[in-house]
Amino acid sequence: MALVASTFIFPQMGLHDPAALALSSPVFREFLDNFDGYTFKYPQNWIQVRGAGADIFFRDPFVLDENISMEASSPSSSRYKSVEDLGTPQDAGEKVLRQYLTELMSTRLGVRRESKVLSTSSRVADDGKLYYQVEINIKSYANNNELAVMPQDRIAKLEWDRRYLSVLGVENNRLYELRLQTPENAFLEEEEDLRQVMDSFRVFKALL
Ligand SMILES: *[C@@H]1O[C@H](CO)[C@@H](O)[C@H](O)[C@H]1NC(C)=O
Repeated sequence: MALVASTFIFPQMGLHDPAALALSSPVFREFLDNFDGYTFKYPQNWIQVRGAGADIFFRDPFVLDENISMEASSPSSSRYKSVEDLGTPQDAGEKVLRQYLTELMSTRLGVRRESKVLSTSSRVADDGKLYYQVEINIKSYANNNELAVMPQDRIAKLEWDRRYLSVLGVENNRLYELRLQTPENAFLEEEEDLRQVMDSFRVFKALL
């Protein structure tokens, strides 16, 4: 894979105000994959992790469990024409949520998941293509004493609470998903950076 990375500073982020620049850590780097046909920008201090299961994977060096991954459907078997093949953004949101719950499926006793599609939207980016955006919350609870006979002895404890942000796009007959995950308690602080990553995602004709 030939990858080109370049440093990119978002022009709207207070270049005239060095204090604001330092506070909002606005230096982004471009990740570009010409062979699979997608690009996005990520905070430059994030670390690429290989072998994490996705086509590409980056994680935040400070916020534990905050990461970005990109996965695309198989080039040989997919026939997508547009993200509208998934239905409306709401339909896509439900599909994405079902997919995440399947991936997170646990065989442990007493695990319960609470999940919700928080928002869905669509936008036409500057490349003229339609993208869908989905925002999801999933909470995982586990009983600390599943074998207890009395229900009141089974106390469900919150194990984790996460925000998932997903951007979907179609090109090369493939469905592409950029996925960002962050602990819910870090979301507000990270939101601005995460939204810039989402907004920067583009798919394009792959070099074959
Ligand atoms: C990515 O983040 C999620 C939670 O936000 C975490 O469960 C997962 O282990 C992380 N992936 C990697 C490979 O670090």
